[in-house]
Amino acid sequence: MSTVPAPARRNTILTIRRHKGQTPIVALTAYTAPMARLLDPHCDMLLVGDSLGMVLYGMESTLPVTLGMMAAHGRAVVGASARACVVVDMPFGSYQASPKDAFAAAAHLLKETACQAVKLEGGAVMAETIAFLAARGIPVMAHIALMPQHVNALGGYRFQGRTQSERDALMRDALAVEQAGAFAVVLEGTEESLAHEITRALGIPTIGIGASAHCDGQVLVSEDMLALTPVQPRFAKRYGDAAALIGEAAAAYAADVRARVFPAREHCFIRKE
Ligand code: KIV
Repeated sequence: MSTVPAPARRNTILTIRRHKGQTPIVALTAYTAPMARLLDPHCDMLLVGDSLGMVLYGMESTLPVTLGMMAAHGRAVVGASARACVVVDMPFGSYQASPKDAFAAAAHLLKETACQAVKLEGGAVMAETIAFLAARGIPVMAHIALMPQHVNALGGYRFQGRTQSERDALMRDALAVEQAGAFAVVLEGTEESLAHEITRALGIPTIGIGASAHCDGQVLVSEDMLALTPVQPRFAKRYGDAAALIGEAAAAYAADVRARVFPAREHCFIRKE
């Protein structure tokens, strides 16, 4: 009998679906290899979110993010993780025009990154596209309610589900993406009781961000959790202060360099006589 431990099996969309009504799905964003390596042992899912445009590149919104950027970061995250189901965001403009455009963009992401699934924003209006992709072997996670790619149409990053007609529309969106074949749906910035109702109404998992503990799972932007973003959304709890850690390390390095304490002998290549 072999004593070599079996390699960790990567979560698939089936693993994620099985969480419905069971233990909550743990998801975090990851954009780079070092972050993916650190987060992978703790997460069921890693999301290569297009939030990387704002978080890593300092863009004002997610709208300028390109397919090339998503492919490059997706490849890094898949390569540095072994266990989590990796989902890559489809960037603005790559999927809205037609199901065929969406297929070409999603196929590019799957080929370039080897991710398990893609995510796109939109409810009932994207149902035809989700069905088109799902029928052709591309697993889709939908993203409804507060959709950052709709920032101009929404008039800002406002939480959703304030009025009865908004709530009815969101419930229709949730049912439409499930019916179309999405394997999970992100509910962002959603009023608590509505998130609860949607979670109860769907047979697929809901993954909340600012959508209450009633969802089947939670996702956070890792940099929000680590105090690495300049403004922290109210719904994002801070679990560590990486900003303080980095600041202290940089200050100590600067002091050592200025005092000629670094590099010390052990950091130098010294010719042996
Ligand atoms: O882009 C992203 O990081 C996301 C999450 C906030 C859900 O879509």
